[in-house]
Amino acid sequence: MKPASRAVHAGRDLGARSPLAPDLSPAAVHVFTDLDDYDAVARGERAGHYYGRNSNANREMLERAVAELEGAEAGVATASGMSALHGAILALAPRPTTIVATRELYGGTASLLRQDLEPAGYEVHFVNLSDLDTVSRALPGAGLVIAETITNPLCHVPDLEAIGAMTREKGVAFLVDNTFATPLLCRPLELGATAVMHSATKYLGGHSDLVAGVAVGDAPTMGLARARAARTGTTLSPFDAWLALRGLRTLDVRMKRHSENSLALARALREMAGVTRVHHPLLDGPNHVLPHGSGGMMAFDLEGGRHAVQRMIKRFSLVTFAASLGGVETTISYPEITSHRSMSPEERAELGVGPGTVRVSVGLEDPEDIVADFAQAVAP
Ligand SMILES: Cc1ncc(COP(=O)(O)O)c(C=O)c1O
Repeated sequence: MKPASRAVHAGRDLGARSPLAPDLSPAAVHVFTDLDDYDAVARGERAGHYYGRNSNANREMLERAVAELEGAEAGVATASGMSALHGAILALAPRPTTIVATRELYGGTASLLRQDLEPAGYEVHFVNLSDLDTVSRALPGAGLVIAETITNPLCHVPDLEAIGAMTREKGVAFLVDNTFATPLLCRPLELGATAVMHSATKYLGGHSDLVAGVAVGDAPTMGLARARAARTGTTLSPFDAWLALRGLRTLDVRMKRHSENSLALARALREMAGVTRVHHPLLDGPNHVLPHGSGGMMAFDLEGGRHAVQRMIKRFSLVTFAASLGGVETTISYPEITSHRSMSPEERAELGVGPGTVRVSVGLEDPEDIVADFAQAVAP
């Protein structure tokens, strides 16, 4: 099956009289009449569910679907992208070790590494993953590398295949946050990653109406992540799993439209007065190629800094300011006070994030309407 068909069908087996759309199963607990049967289900040796924190039919469907789409053996769905990331890190590197992470990391991930893992004994090195010599120098002694397929907010695309080959050679685990690209545009496991995670809050869900995360990888690693999620109670609720799976069904058509619209907006913004730089995975190098499109994420720098950004927001009639991404509506975010607020101005400047940097999550509206709203909002 091609990825588009997989997005529509993955995660369930339809038979005679099956509901075409999955039933919602909110039950917290299932009834048993046979102690051996309970024992076999609780040990995971027999299919079934016994307690909602450990497993649930809707969650299982979502886990299977994302694992299938990413080409993984297994998946774990959790209460947020952050808990999927945390669970994947602890499954891949259960004891304090050195973590090499992209310096352009999502702010929440950087905070988790600095505020939770470093105090627990992990050492974290933030490096430029687009520079393969730097990666090679950072690997000896490391236990885990963390990358993002498309970085936030400047949309750089590292060479995951080259990093995957290096980490394999050195026996270092490699975790990729594939939230921005989705498995329709990039499948990091095929490029050498050990595990992949998503904030399903974004494109997988796609409608800004749920918070969820999914990690996928080999069955033993995901078994560890699932057991910890059950112990720590970070598993995903049935309704959010149901919603995420419903969103996933249209992922292919949405990602195609997001990709077309972001490219149209990036090209138009390049011609607008006051826009000093446009950051787009396919226009702004040096980026590794994403052959099936790059999704809806892009950024630009506006002359005049925070004041100009505020003026643009006040003038928008269709676009809104919202600190998330991946939904059907075009939204902007202002990294200085959202994703990168925990950094100092100097740290942001080193990355290339300035007071005029605006991140855009380009939605599914008609591209002419999106371009027109930006044109009138940034006009002098
Ligand atoms: C790239 C990336 N990874 C992880 C996360 C965290 O996901 P969640 O908010 O679902 O916990 C986000 C959230 O913005 C994100 O953008």
